Amino acid sequence: MTFETLLEEDMMRERLLELIPEFDLIQDDDLREKCIETWEAAMEESGWTPDALAQMPFTLLINPCPASYIDHIRAVTLTAVRAAEVFGEIYGERVPVNMDYLVAGGLLHDIGKLLEYENRDDGVTVQTYEGKLLRHPFTGMELAARCGLPAEVQHIIATHAGEGDKVIRTTEATLINHADFMNFHSIQRMGQDKNLAARMG
Ligand SMILES: [Fe+2]
Repeated sequence: MTFETLLEEDMMRERLLELIPEFDLIQDDDLREKCIETWEAAMEESGWTPDALAQMPFTLLINPCPASYIDHIRAVTLTAVRAAEVFGEIYGERVPVNMDYLVAGGLLHDIGKLLEYENRDDGVTVQTYEGKLLRHPFTGMELAARCGLPAEVQHIIATHAGEGDKVIRTTEATLINHADFMNFHSIQRMGQDKNLAARMG
């Protein structure tokens, strides 16, 4: 590896941590490092940079999309963390939540989207052919497994979307699944209110 490549990687990591300060919520050093490494692997494989992800729509199902991929990742992670804090306050040890797995799962739940989405020449984000065949829960789980994330975090990624509806989700995966849909549906419905018109196609 050349000095320039190393420097580039350092700058990319620095920018990522600047845009997503929630990596610091992970207490376990090894888990935090593996989580960042999974992001780096996804960025290297796809060519997406942290700044480009701050401009990428978090979903292709809402157009125009008012939230970026980075906004979505942070919002879902923090929505789930706040819910888990309420669980702690009210239920205490009766409903335990592993906060480290929850945060890692939140930060990684959509990591496969870096492989599922690409920018067309005109700047519009589209789904890749491979992304159609293997949506982000599959590719995201593979990336996380390759980078040594524990099964609990792989489980959150694999089950966060509709693909996981037949699986009995852990508490952490349930919180991320619902935090994700709280964010998605709220934003999706904002757009739908404006467009009460249709014609037969
Ligand atoms: Fe997703």
